[in-house]
Amino acid sequence: MEKQTKPQGMALSMERVQATRQARMQEEPRRMTAGEKDELLRRYHPDYREDGFTVLQAGPSRGTRVPKELGNLLQANSRLLGVSLEGREPDYQADVLIIGAGGAGCAAALEAEQAGARVLIATKLRMGDANTMMAEGGIQAADKENDSPVRHYLDAFGGGHFAARPELLRRLVMEAPDAIAWLEHLGVMFDKTGDGTMVTTHGGGTSRKRMHACADYTGAEIMRTLRDEVQNRGIPVLEFTAAVELLKDEKGQAAGAVLLNLETGEYLTALAKTVILATGGAGRLHYQGFPTSNHYGATADGLVLAYRAGAPLLYPDTIQYHPTGAAYPPQIFGALVTEKVRSVGAMLVNREGQAFMHPLETRDVAAAAIIRECTDRDMGVLTPGGRAVWLDTPMIELIHGEGTIEKRIPAMLRMFLNYGVDMRKEPILVYPTLHYQNGGVEIDRDGFVKNVGNLLAAGEVVGGIHGRNRLMGNSLLDVIVFGRQAGKAAAARARTVQPGKAGLQHIRDYARELEQAGIQPGEASPLLLPHYARKSPQNCKSYL
Ligand code: FUM
Repeated sequence: MEKQTKPQGMALSMERVQATRQARMQEEPRRMTAGEKDELLRRYHPDYREDGFTVLQAGPSRGTRVPKELGNLLQANSRLLGVSLEGREPDYQADVLIIGAGGAGCAAALEAEQAGARVLIATKLRMGDANTMMAEGGIQAADKENDSPVRHYLDAFGGGHFAARPELLRRLVMEAPDAIAWLEHLGVMFDKTGDGTMVTTHGGGTSRKRMHACADYTGAEIMRTLRDEVQNRGIPVLEFTAAVELLKDEKGQAAGAVLLNLETGEYLTALAKTVILATGGAGRLHYQGFPTSNHYGATADGLVLAYRAGAPLLYPDTIQYHPTGAAYPPQIFGALVTEKVRSVGAMLVNREGQAFMHPLETRDVAAAAIIRECTDRDMGVLTPGGRAVWLDTPMIELIHGEGTIEKRIPAMLRMFLNYGVDMRKEPILVYPTLHYQNGGVEIDRDGFVKNVGNLLAAGEVVGGIHGRNRLMGNSLLDVIVFGRQAGKAAAARARTVQPGKAGLQHIRDYARELEQAGIQPGEASPLLLPHYARKSPQNCKSYL
């Protein structure tokens, strides 16, 4: 593609970055103190902007602060209010119903099938349309001599502001080495040196190099492998089939789901002895107007389904803004620029070419520091989409040698080259992008959702594994560790379940609670597709 002409201010600022590079590379970047970080977060991180939040007035987490956009969906009525399932035969029956076919859903399916369960996967888009597919930089595991799961635990616990549920984080780090071995056994091609040793790098907030990667398309490689395995084993997958409500039996336990075929507009029922929610994140709600690195279907559906069914949410007010979303050119605004770019040496610098933070701060701190440069300090670079800062990518090849960018971050190189920006020769512009929900459905160490029997959850829909901020590479890890765990636990539980009568009484109860709380619900939820989707499922007609 033809090189785009940069606005003059941008071009002049880029010259400053180039002029200051050699001097910057001689300096040892300073780490912020804990107090400085706290102050920075409080003043600049979007989680602290009161006008971005509301307090829930109904449901199991009444009194909890959530992003406004999420609050509207949680305190909405079901699409199925007024619908009766009386006399209706189920369309599907399974031991384990898995909602979502990203990394967590597929990992769960493989383990549940391995344990002998009849598994059914329903997924809103195609198998693999998920944030797992979009993950780039790597997956953490302490599997080298100089490292240990204890160190991994301490890094993640501190990085998450000491708020992670210890029993969940413990499982995450202890089972990480086995997760890598399992993925490799299935066929994931991790980067290795000539003698077969895994290549590992740092991420923000890691004390050891434990990031295993497949160049900068780690999630795509993992998702490709899981998807092939699900297909090879013949596990049934309903694509373009979204879950719009959980079904519960007379004891209040999950007993299946009502599904919506997005192509025909038909509602379908699936009965199951256990249900696993693996529906992913919420980036497409664009909290506070942020762009997102998330896939098209990330609309918080699982949070809505679980909440209406009686499951409380943990830390729903803590969101991850990835510090390095692409800010220019406009065609890729908000797309992920992997943290691996920082890991392999690129520094974040402002309009004047000054480094304003240590390059490997955790994501929340880095995002807040960038926002400060672009607001109060007025040191951002003006772009068509707002202010941004530079990520000085040519430093990478000065540190590690020519060819490093093509070898280690080829997808980034291609993404920018498509628009005439050669990151080997010139720095790139970045600004925080909505990347991950740190909070979510509360689970126990085995993956069972609090307060709703026979319901499990895995992946980004879960809260508490990472506390109030997640380190790079711990999400791909959690989808594998907790996906596998949920699959095993769901299959085992399914063997003991006596199915009851599945129904939707809980949605009528919730509608009454909303009414009693004086809430005027807006559009029905879950949302399923972003508001800007060309064909909205809001208009689907039911035959129920
Ligand atoms: O920056 C990244 O490559 C993203 C990784 C993650 O969210 O773990």
